[in-house]
Amino acid sequence: MRIMASDAIGGGGGDTRGSVLRSVKSMLLRPVTKAELLTAMVDRVVEALDAERGTLYLLDAVTGELVSRVAHLPELSEIRLPLGTGVAGRVAETGNAMLLEDVSEHEAFYPGIDERTGFTTRSMLAVPVRDEAQVVRGVLQVLNRKHGRFGERDRERLCELADEVADALTRTSMQPISEADAGLLIDGPFNHIVGDSPQMVTLYDNTLAASSTDATVLIRGESGTGKTLVARAIHDSSERRRGPLVHVDCTTLPASLIESELFGHERGAFTGADRRVEGKVETAAGGTLFLDEIGDLPLEAQGKLLRFLQEHAFERVGGRETLVADVRVISATNVDLEALIRAGRFRRDLYYRIRVVELSVPPLRERGAQDIRRLAEHFLARFARRHRRPTRALSKAALERLCRHDWPGNVRELEHCIESAVVLSRAELIEPRHLSLPPASGADEHAGASDDASGYPPGMALEDVERDHIERTLAHCDGNQSEAARLLGIGRNTLSRKLKR
Ligand SMILES: Nc1ncnc2c1ncn2[C@@H]1O[C@H](COP(=O)(O)OP(=O)(O)O)[C@@H](O)[C@H]1O
Ligand SMILES: [Mg+2]
Repeated sequence: MRIMASDAIGGGGGDTRGSVLRSVKSMLLRPVTKAELLTAMVDRVVEALDAERGTLYLLDAVTGELVSRVAHLPELSEIRLPLGTGVAGRVAETGNAMLLEDVSEHEAFYPGIDERTGFTTRSMLAVPVRDEAQVVRGVLQVLNRKHGRFGERDRERLCELADEVADALTRTSMQPISEADAGLLIDGPFNHIVGDSPQMVTLYDNTLAASSTDATVLIRGESGTGKTLVARAIHDSSERRRGPLVHVDCTTLPASLIESELFGHERGAFTGADRRVEGKVETAAGGTLFLDEIGDLPLEAQGKLLRFLQEHAFERVGGRETLVADVRVISATNVDLEALIRAGRFRRDLYYRIRVVELSVPPLRERGAQDIRRLAEHFLARFARRHRRPTRALSKAALERLCRHDWPGNVRELEHCIESAVVLSRAELIEPRHLSLPPASGADEHAGASDDASGYPPGMALEDVERDHIERTLAHCDGNQSEAARLLGIGRNTLSRKLKR
């Protein structure tokens, strides 16, 4: 990633290329409004250039005009400049940067904007924003250097920042409408990772840091926390984003097939292998291989994977030729790999090799009410669209109920809960009774017991309550009976007796 280049640009402030837009880039992983994102970028640019104001213009594909996307002009919500008009219009037309030490001496300067805003522009620096194909997509300009004058170094610095802005724009949905079009499509969602609790912000920062390298990443977190989304975010923000992202779910493949799934096989390698088949490792060449639930990888395949991670080399099943593939590996797991190592079911050397960088995705119950509310609203809007239902709001009581639940199934559970509420309820507000939440468990048992709308229905047979509670606890512990017994406060043998019954 370009922003990781270590040389400092310009003097003053000690800014390095990496620090100027880094905090802005972490915004790209979560949904932000475009105004928010662009404002944040221009703010950093203004700061870095020691300027009074800054403006980012983007070329409007429809009208062919430059449209100010962020102007530090509270007086005007939007400036439109025809191509060729004013300094920005000229920069867009010619593709050359312009430095005006004193605008009053320059015929290109268009005073119309100052007249409308009352701001006095003294000096100005404007550079083109180009996409990767070097096509001009907009103009980045700063006004009035606070100390001293804009110089050659400022021009270079602003050009570099314009590259970063362009880079940030390509990571968002602000893609060119088509190859032939000069303009950008300015609408559309950014991405779909919702939540800005401190835990998630830390995760975004770490995800960005990881994606700027080619390091092997292990994503840990309970089931349904969003590990798959994080893997995609890493790929999409990395230099490999134009290459493939190949997903292999280690749980769904029988042990006997996984090796050939990963590394491919030659014709005749085993019964039924009637032709040569390329493995996922080959398919992922130039991109990223995502090994989901790596804890389920059989020992034998673990050895081959280790070798691949060390040497990038492998052989197809039944093949003699040693092949090489340039692949970045990301893995995810929701199990305790350390325990698997102790049990002899996971290789320690592989474990160290896959967790060069470890990211942990927080369980929903630790992310706080604000994230739960945002996610719930995100899913309400999404499922209303999908099922063609009016978008409805959550009642205060429903929201409280959601916040009290401990979400053993994490975001996935919340997603399903909201989807079913959207489908089943016809009321204007979604109330607790529309939420098909199981009875409160664990830490919020007491809160749940006092809530009629959420608890077990009065009169439900004790035996059924017990069975339901045990099943849920077991699911919560991924079927681990000792852990479930511990949580339930009963002996392991008692639990297995109850299970038999
Ligand atoms: N932060 C989030 N914002 C929006 N949706 C999310 C978030 N985290 C998870 N999801 C959604 O929840 C579901 C489960 O996420 P997934 O990435 O498959 O979890 P995991 O891989 O950890 O089991 C998916 O439908 C995903 O889109
Ligand atoms: Mg997953």
